[in-house]
Amino acid sequence: MAETLTSIQLSDDKIQIVNQLVLPHTTEWLVIDTIEQAHDAIRSMKIRGAPAIGSLAALAFSQHLARALRSSPPPDFLSSPEALKAHVSQKLDFLFTARPTAVNLGAATRRLARTLQTSSDAGKDARKIAEDLVEDGKQIAAEDVGRNKAMAKWGGDWLVELVKGNGASGDGLNVLTVCNTGSLATSGYGTALGLITHLHETGKLGRAYFTQTAPYHQGSRLTALELKTLQIPSTMIVDTMVGSLFQHHSIHAVAVGADRIARNGDTANKIGTYNAAVLAARHNIPFIVVAPITTVDLDVADGSGIPIEHRPPLEACIVRGALYPPSLDQQGNKAQAAIMIPPEGLDGIYNPSFDVTPAELITAIVTEKGVAVKGSDGRFDLSNVV
Ligand code: MRU
Repeated sequence: MAETLTSIQLSDDKIQIVNQLVLPHTTEWLVIDTIEQAHDAIRSMKIRGAPAIGSLAALAFSQHLARALRSSPPPDFLSSPEALKAHVSQKLDFLFTARPTAVNLGAATRRLARTLQTSSDAGKDARKIAEDLVEDGKQIAAEDVGRNKAMAKWGGDWLVELVKGNGASGDGLNVLTVCNTGSLATSGYGTALGLITHLHETGKLGRAYFTQTAPYHQGSRLTALELKTLQIPSTMIVDTMVGSLFQHHSIHAVAVGADRIARNGDTANKIGTYNAAVLAARHNIPFIVVAPITTVDLDVADGSGIPIEHRPPLEACIVRGALYPPSLDQQGNKAQAAIMIPPEGLDGIYNPSFDVTPAELITAIVTEKGVAVKGSDGRFDLSNVV
Protein backbone atom coordinates (compact mmCIF):
# COMPACT_ATOMS: atom_id res chain seq x y z
CA MET A 1 0.00 0.00 0.00
CA ALA A 2 1.39 3.40 -0.96
CA GLU A 3 1.83 5.93 1.86
CA THR A 4 -0.79 8.71 2.07
CA LEU A 5 -0.55 12.30 3.23
CA THR A 6 -2.75 14.00 5.75
CA SER A 7 -3.63 17.61 6.52
CA ILE A 8 -4.77 17.22 10.15
CA GLN A 9 -3.55 14.96 12.95
CA LEU A 10 -5.64 14.53 16.06
CA SER A 11 -4.60 12.76 19.22
CA ASP A 12 -6.86 13.19 22.27
CA ASP A 13 -7.62 16.86 21.80
CA LYS A 14 -4.23 17.86 20.40
CA ILE A 15 -4.66 19.18 16.86
CA GLN A 16 -1.77 19.52 14.45
CA ILE A 17 -1.92 20.64 10.83
CA VAL A 18 0.70 20.31 8.15
CA ASN A 19 1.76 23.78 7.02
CA GLN A 20 0.76 23.77 3.34
CA LEU A 21 2.65 27.01 2.70
CA VAL A 22 5.99 25.16 2.90
CA LEU A 23 5.01 21.85 1.27
CA PRO A 24 6.29 19.96 -0.68
CA HIS A 25 9.87 20.73 0.35
CA THR A 26 9.40 20.85 4.11
CA THR A 27 6.94 18.95 6.29
CA GLU A 28 6.23 21.26 9.19
CA TRP A 29 3.54 20.42 11.74
CA LEU A 30 1.84 23.33 13.49
CA VAL A 31 -0.06 22.90 16.75
CA ILE A 32 -3.50 24.47 16.79
CA ASP A 33 -4.33 25.38 20.37
CA THR A 34 -7.06 27.97 20.00
CA ILE A 35 -9.96 28.95 17.79
CA GLU A 36 -8.00 32.09 16.86
CA GLN A 37 -5.07 29.98 15.64
CA ALA A 38 -7.44 27.83 13.56
CA HIS A 39 -8.96 30.98 12.06
CA ASP A 40 -5.52 32.33 11.21
CA ALA A 41 -4.36 29.02 9.69
CA ILE A 42 -7.43 28.95 7.42
CA ARG A 43 -7.19 32.62 6.48
CA SER A 44 -3.47 32.44 5.67
CA MET A 45 -3.99 29.15 3.76
CA LYS A 46 -1.64 27.10 5.95
CA ILE A 47 -4.56 24.72 5.60
CA ARG A 48 -6.89 24.96 2.61
CA GLY A 49 -9.40 22.94 0.60
CA ALA A 50 -13.11 23.23 1.36
CA PRO A 51 -13.59 20.02 3.41
CA ALA A 52 -10.29 20.42 5.31
CA ILE A 53 -11.10 23.92 6.51
CA GLY A 54 -14.56 22.75 7.64
CA SER A 55 -12.90 19.90 9.55
CA LEU A 56 -10.29 22.12 11.20
CA ALA A 57 -12.93 24.66 12.27
CA ALA A 58 -15.06 21.88 13.80
CA LEU A 59 -12.09 20.27 15.58
CA ALA A 60 -10.76 23.55 16.97
CA PHE A 61 -14.21 24.38 18.28
CA SER A 62 -14.53 20.91 19.82
CA GLN A 63 -11.08 21.24 21.44
CA HIS A 64 -12.00 24.63 22.89
CA LEU A 65 -15.09 23.22 24.62
CA ALA A 66 -13.35 19.99 25.73
CA ARG A 67 -10.67 22.04 27.47
CA ALA A 68 -13.29 24.28 29.06
CA LEU A 69 -15.07 21.19 30.42
CA ARG A 70 -11.84 20.00 32.05
CA SER A 71 -10.78 23.34 33.50
CA SER A 72 -11.13 24.13 37.17
CA PRO A 73 -12.75 26.41 38.06
CA PRO A 74 -14.94 26.12 34.94
CA PRO A 75 -15.30 29.21 32.76
CA ASP A 76 -18.40 31.38 33.28
CA PHE A 77 -19.90 30.33 29.94
CA LEU A 78 -20.52 26.83 31.35
CA SER A 79 -22.69 28.26 34.13
CA SER A 80 -25.97 28.15 32.14
CA PRO A 81 -27.31 27.11 28.72
CA GLU A 82 -27.88 30.81 27.91
CA ALA A 83 -24.28 31.75 28.72
CA LEU A 84 -23.03 28.79 26.68
CA LYS A 85 -25.28 29.73 23.75
CA ALA A 86 -23.94 33.30 23.66
CA HIS A 87 -20.33 32.08 23.84
CA VAL A 88 -20.75 29.36 21.20
CA SER A 89 -22.55 31.67 18.77
CA GLN A 90 -19.77 34.23 19.01
CA LYS A 91 -17.07 31.58 18.39
CA LEU A 92 -18.93 30.01 15.46
CA ASP A 93 -19.58 33.41 13.87
CA PHE A 94 -15.87 34.18 14.15
CA LEU A 95 -14.80 30.86 12.57
CA PHE A 96 -17.29 31.39 9.74
CA THR A 97 -15.51 34.60 8.70
CA ALA A 98 -12.17 32.89 7.97
CA ARG A 99 -12.86 32.36 4.23
CA PRO A 100 -16.04 33.22 2.32
CA THR A 101 -16.40 30.92 -0.70
CA ALA A 102 -16.14 27.35 0.62
CA VAL A 103 -19.57 26.59 2.00
CA ASN A 104 -18.24 23.65 4.05
CA LEU A 105 -17.05 26.08 6.70
CA GLY A 106 -20.58 27.46 6.98
CA ALA A 107 -22.03 23.93 6.86
CA ALA A 108 -19.83 22.92 9.83
CA THR A 109 -20.66 26.00 11.90
CA ARG A 110 -24.39 25.74 11.05
CA ARG A 111 -24.45 22.07 12.03
CA LEU A 112 -22.82 22.87 15.40
CA ALA A 113 -25.34 25.67 15.93
CA ARG A 114 -28.16 23.16 15.26
CA THR A 115 -26.67 20.68 17.76
CA LEU A 116 -26.54 23.48 20.32
CA GLN A 117 -30.21 24.22 19.68
CA THR A 118 -31.34 20.56 19.77
CA SER A 119 -29.44 19.82 22.99
CA SER A 120 -30.75 22.91 24.75
CA ASP A 121 -34.31 22.23 23.52
CA ALA A 122 -33.95 18.78 25.12
CA GLY A 123 -33.47 20.54 28.48
CA LYS A 124 -29.83 19.52 28.96
CA ASP A 125 -27.58 21.55 31.26
CA ALA A 126 -24.65 23.57 29.92
CA ARG A 127 -22.05 20.85 30.54
CA LYS A 128 -24.11 18.21 28.73
CA ILE A 129 -24.72 20.55 25.79
CA ALA A 130 -21.00 21.27 25.61
CA GLU A 131 -20.25 17.52 25.65
CA ASP A 132 -22.64 17.02 22.71
CA LEU A 133 -20.88 19.80 20.81
CA VAL A 134 -17.43 18.30 21.51
CA GLU A 135 -18.57 14.99 20.00
CA ASP A 136 -20.30 16.61 17.03
CA GLY A 137 -17.19 18.64 16.18
CA LYS A 138 -15.06 15.48 16.08
CA GLN A 139 -17.74 13.69 14.09
CA ILE A 140 -17.78 16.38 11.36
CA ALA A 141 -14.08 15.78 10.69
CA ALA A 142 -14.29 12.00 10.98
CA GLU A 143 -17.20 11.65 8.51
CA ASP A 144 -15.21 13.20 5.68
CA VAL A 145 -13.02 10.24 4.70
CA GLY A 146 -15.84 7.72 4.27
CA ARG A 147 -17.91 10.01 2.13
CA ASN A 148 -14.90 10.83 -0.07
CA LYS A 149 -14.36 7.14 -0.77
CA ALA A 150 -18.05 6.78 -1.63
CA MET A 151 -18.10 9.69 -4.09
CA ALA A 152 -14.80 8.62 -5.65
CA LYS A 153 -16.27 5.19 -6.39
CA TRP A 154 -19.57 6.59 -7.69
CA GLY A 155 -17.79 9.00 -10.01
CA GLY A 156 -15.01 6.64 -11.12
CA ASP A 157 -17.34 3.74 -11.92
CA TRP A 158 -19.76 6.09 -13.70
CA LEU A 159 -16.94 7.44 -15.87
CA VAL A 160 -15.79 3.95 -16.84
CA GLU A 161 -19.34 3.09 -17.95
CA LEU A 162 -19.67 6.39 -19.85
CA VAL A 163 -16.45 5.72 -21.77
CA LYS A 164 -17.50 2.12 -22.47
CA GLY A 165 -20.88 3.40 -23.70
CA ASN A 166 -18.95 5.41 -26.29
CA GLY A 167 -17.42 2.22 -27.62
CA ALA A 168 -14.03 2.38 -25.84
CA SER A 169 -12.64 -0.26 -23.45
CA GLY A 170 -12.96 1.82 -20.26
CA ASP A 171 -9.31 1.10 -19.42
CA GLY A 172 -6.31 3.45 -19.54
CA LEU A 173 -8.37 6.54 -18.70
CA ASN A 174 -6.55 9.86 -18.74
CA VAL A 175 -8.07 12.42 -16.39
CA LEU A 176 -7.16 16.09 -15.94
CA THR A 177 -7.68 17.79 -12.59
CA VAL A 178 -7.25 21.35 -11.32
CA CYS A 179 -6.04 22.54 -7.91
CA ASN A 180 -5.62 20.06 -5.05
CA THR A 181 -8.54 17.97 -3.92
CA GLY A 182 -6.78 15.04 -2.26
CA SER A 183 -5.92 14.09 1.31
CA LEU A 184 -4.37 17.50 1.96
CA ALA A 185 -7.62 19.27 1.02
CA THR A 186 -9.90 16.96 3.00
CA SER A 187 -9.75 14.67 6.04
CA GLY A 188 -8.50 11.91 3.71
CA TYR A 189 -8.66 10.26 0.25
CA GLY A 190 -9.99 13.34 -1.50
CA THR A 191 -12.83 14.24 -3.87
CA ALA A 192 -11.75 14.67 -7.51
CA LEU A 193 -8.32 13.30 -6.66
CA GLY A 194 -10.18 10.52 -4.84
CA LEU A 195 -11.91 9.66 -8.14
CA ILE A 196 -8.52 9.50 -9.83
CA THR A 197 -7.14 7.37 -6.97
CA HIS A 198 -10.13 5.03 -7.27
CA LEU A 199 -9.50 4.60 -11.01
CA HIS A 200 -5.86 3.86 -10.26
CA GLU A 201 -6.72 1.35 -7.53
CA THR A 202 -9.16 -0.44 -9.83
CA GLY A 203 -6.66 -0.58 -12.71
CA LYS A 204 -8.64 1.81 -14.92
CA LEU A 205 -6.39 4.87 -14.86
CA GLY A 206 -3.96 5.60 -17.64
CA ARG A 207 -2.55 8.88 -16.36
CA ALA A 208 -3.54 11.77 -14.13
CA TYR A 209 -2.84 15.22 -15.55
CA PHE A 210 -2.94 18.26 -13.29
CA THR A 211 -2.55 22.00 -13.75
CA GLN A 212 0.02 23.90 -11.71
CA THR A 213 -2.84 26.11 -10.50
CA ALA A 214 -1.23 29.52 -10.17
CA PRO A 215 -0.92 31.64 -8.14
CA TYR A 216 -0.89 29.46 -4.98
CA HIS A 217 0.30 26.42 -6.95
CA GLN A 218 -1.96 23.88 -5.28
CA GLY A 219 -1.28 21.66 -8.29
CA SER A 220 2.50 21.82 -8.62
CA ARG A 221 3.12 21.83 -4.86
CA LEU A 222 0.36 19.69 -3.36
CA THR A 223 -1.28 17.52 -6.05
CA ALA A 224 2.18 16.71 -7.41
CA LEU A 225 3.25 15.54 -3.96
CA GLU A 226 0.11 13.48 -3.41
CA LEU A 227 0.30 11.74 -6.79
CA LYS A 228 3.99 11.06 -6.31
CA THR A 229 3.37 9.66 -2.81
CA LEU A 230 0.54 7.46 -4.09
CA GLN A 231 2.71 6.36 -7.03
CA ILE A 232 0.01 7.32 -9.52
CA PRO A 233 1.36 7.97 -13.05
CA SER A 234 0.97 11.69 -13.59
CA THR A 235 1.93 14.67 -15.72
CA MET A 236 1.94 18.30 -14.63
CA ILE A 237 0.94 21.01 -17.08
CA VAL A 238 1.17 24.78 -16.83
CA ASP A 239 -2.31 26.36 -16.57
CA THR A 240 -2.03 27.86 -20.05
CA MET A 241 -1.50 24.42 -21.63
CA VAL A 242 -4.96 22.92 -21.11
CA GLY A 243 -6.05 23.65 -24.69
CA SER A 244 -2.86 22.19 -26.10
CA LEU A 245 -3.26 19.08 -23.91
CA PHE A 246 -6.78 18.54 -25.26
CA GLN A 247 -5.62 19.04 -28.85
CA HIS A 248 -2.70 16.63 -28.67
CA HIS A 249 -3.61 13.96 -26.09
CA SER A 250 -6.51 11.66 -25.53
CA ILE A 251 -8.13 12.96 -22.33
CA HIS A 252 -11.21 11.06 -21.16
CA ALA A 253 -12.47 13.46 -18.51
CA VAL A 254 -11.80 16.51 -16.39
CA ALA A 255 -12.56 15.95 -12.69
CA VAL A 256 -12.56 18.86 -10.26
CA GLY A 257 -13.65 19.55 -6.70
CA ALA A 258 -15.90 22.39 -5.60
CA ASP A 259 -16.08 25.07 -2.98
CA ARG A 260 -19.77 25.73 -3.46
CA ILE A 261 -22.39 24.29 -5.81
CA ALA A 262 -25.52 26.36 -6.36
CA ARG A 263 -29.01 24.81 -6.65
CA ASN A 264 -28.85 24.86 -10.48
CA GLY A 265 -25.42 23.18 -10.53
CA ASP A 266 -23.28 26.27 -11.17
CA THR A 267 -20.03 25.49 -9.37
CA ALA A 268 -17.43 27.68 -7.71
CA ASN A 269 -13.99 26.12 -7.65
CA LYS A 270 -10.37 27.16 -7.87
CA ILE A 271 -9.56 29.88 -10.36
CA GLY A 272 -8.86 28.29 -13.74
CA THR A 273 -11.60 25.67 -13.43
CA TYR A 274 -13.89 27.65 -15.73
CA ASN A 275 -11.14 27.89 -18.38
CA ALA A 276 -10.73 24.09 -18.27
CA ALA A 277 -14.53 23.63 -18.54
CA VAL A 278 -14.82 25.87 -21.62
CA LEU A 279 -12.01 23.97 -23.32
CA ALA A 280 -13.45 20.60 -22.28
CA ALA A 281 -16.79 21.53 -23.87
CA ARG A 282 -15.01 22.58 -27.05
CA HIS A 283 -13.28 19.16 -27.19
CA ASN A 284 -16.31 17.12 -26.08
CA ILE A 285 -14.58 15.94 -22.93
CA PRO A 286 -16.85 15.10 -19.95
CA PHE A 287 -16.46 17.59 -17.10
CA ILE A 288 -17.16 16.09 -13.67
CA VAL A 289 -17.57 17.92 -10.36
CA VAL A 290 -16.92 15.75 -7.28
CA ALA A 291 -17.86 17.15 -3.87
CA PRO A 292 -19.61 16.25 -0.62
CA ILE A 293 -23.26 17.10 -0.02
CA THR A 294 -22.09 19.82 2.38
CA THR A 295 -20.67 21.69 -0.63
CA VAL A 296 -24.10 21.97 -2.24
CA ASP A 297 -25.77 25.20 -1.15
CA LEU A 298 -29.46 24.90 -1.93
CA ASP A 299 -30.01 28.42 -0.55
CA VAL A 300 -28.13 29.84 -3.54
CA ALA A 301 -30.13 29.65 -6.77
CA ASP A 302 -27.23 30.07 -9.20
CA GLY A 303 -23.59 31.04 -9.46
CA SER A 304 -24.27 34.77 -9.34
CA GLY A 305 -25.13 34.35 -5.64
CA ILE A 306 -21.82 32.69 -4.69
CA PRO A 307 -19.43 35.05 -2.87
CA ILE A 308 -16.01 34.97 -4.52
CA GLU A 309 -13.00 35.51 -2.34
CA HIS A 310 -10.36 37.87 -3.67
CA ARG A 311 -6.95 37.16 -2.13
CA PRO A 312 -4.36 39.85 -1.36
CA PRO A 313 -2.70 41.15 -4.58
CA LEU A 314 0.72 40.18 -3.23
CA GLU A 315 -0.23 36.48 -3.42
CA ALA A 316 -0.58 36.79 -7.19
CA CYS A 317 2.90 38.31 -7.48
CA ILE A 318 5.02 35.86 -5.54
CA VAL A 319 5.99 32.25 -6.02
CA ARG A 320 7.08 30.19 -3.03
CA GLY A 321 9.44 27.28 -3.28
CA ALA A 322 12.81 25.76 -2.50
CA LEU A 323 15.97 27.41 -3.80
CA TYR A 324 17.40 25.76 -6.88
CA PRO A 325 20.02 24.35 -6.99
CA PRO A 326 19.03 23.13 -3.49
CA SER A 327 20.80 24.43 -0.41
CA LEU A 328 20.14 23.77 3.26
CA ASP A 329 19.02 26.33 5.84
CA GLN A 330 20.42 26.49 9.39
CA GLN A 331 18.03 23.74 10.57
CA GLY A 332 19.17 21.41 7.81
CA ASN A 333 15.93 21.83 5.81
CA LYS A 334 15.87 22.74 2.15
CA ALA A 335 16.14 26.54 2.03
CA GLN A 336 12.91 28.14 0.82
CA ALA A 337 12.10 31.55 -0.55
CA ALA A 338 9.21 33.65 -1.78
CA ILE A 339 10.17 35.21 -5.11
CA MET A 340 8.59 38.42 -6.40
CA ILE A 341 7.83 38.15 -10.12
CA PRO A 342 6.44 41.48 -11.45
CA PRO A 343 8.07 44.85 -10.88
CA GLU A 344 7.03 46.37 -7.54
CA GLY A 345 4.34 49.03 -7.54
CA LEU A 346 1.92 47.66 -10.17
CA ASP A 347 -1.34 49.49 -9.62
CA GLY A 348 -3.71 46.82 -10.89
CA ILE A 349 -3.63 43.20 -9.82
CA TYR A 350 -6.70 40.97 -10.23
CA ASN A 351 -6.63 38.02 -7.85
CA PRO A 352 -9.94 36.18 -7.44
CA SER A 353 -9.31 32.86 -5.73
CA PHE A 354 -12.25 31.10 -7.40
CA ASP A 355 -14.33 31.20 -10.57
CA VAL A 356 -17.79 29.87 -11.34
CA THR A 357 -18.32 27.20 -13.97
CA PRO A 358 -21.89 27.40 -15.31
CA ALA A 359 -23.95 24.20 -15.03
CA GLU A 360 -24.23 24.25 -18.82
CA LEU A 361 -20.56 23.19 -19.05
CA ILE A 362 -20.77 20.45 -16.40
CA THR A 363 -21.51 16.86 -17.43
CA ALA A 364 -22.03 15.33 -13.99
CA ILE A 365 -22.10 16.31 -10.32
CA VAL A 366 -21.04 13.54 -7.96
CA THR A 367 -21.60 13.41 -4.20
CA GLU A 368 -21.41 10.58 -1.67
CA LYS A 369 -25.03 9.78 -2.60
CA GLY A 370 -24.51 9.27 -6.33
CA VAL A 371 -24.16 10.92 -9.72
CA ALA A 372 -26.44 13.65 -11.06
CA VAL A 373 -26.59 14.31 -14.80
CA LYS A 374 -28.77 16.81 -16.64
CA GLY A 375 -32.30 15.91 -17.65
CA SER A 376 -33.82 16.30 -21.09
CA ASP A 377 -34.47 19.97 -20.21
CA GLY A 378 -30.69 20.48 -19.90
CA ARG A 379 -30.93 21.16 -16.16
CA PHE A 380 -29.55 19.42 -13.09
CA ASP A 381 -31.93 18.08 -10.48
CA LEU A 382 -29.68 17.74 -7.45
CA SER A 383 -32.41 16.38 -5.17
CA ASN A 384 -31.21 12.77 -5.62
CA VAL A 385 -27.62 13.54 -4.64
CA VAL A 386 -28.11 15.78 -1.58
O1 MRU B 1 -8.06 28.16 -2.14
P1 MRU B 1 -8.13 26.70 -1.86
O2 MRU B 1 -6.84 25.99 -2.06
O3 MRU B 1 -8.74 26.40 -0.52
O4 MRU B 1 -9.12 26.15 -2.97
C1 MRU B 1 -9.39 24.78 -2.99
C2 MRU B 1 -10.24 24.37 -4.13
O5 MRU B 1 -10.70 25.16 -4.92
C3 MRU B 1 -10.58 22.92 -4.19
O6 MRU B 1 -10.70 22.49 -5.51
C4 MRU B 1 -11.92 22.72 -3.47
O7 MRU B 1 -11.87 23.29 -2.19
C5 MRU B 1 -12.26 21.28 -3.33
S1 MRU B 1 -11.17 20.48 -2.18
C6 MRU B 1 -11.66 18.88 -2.04
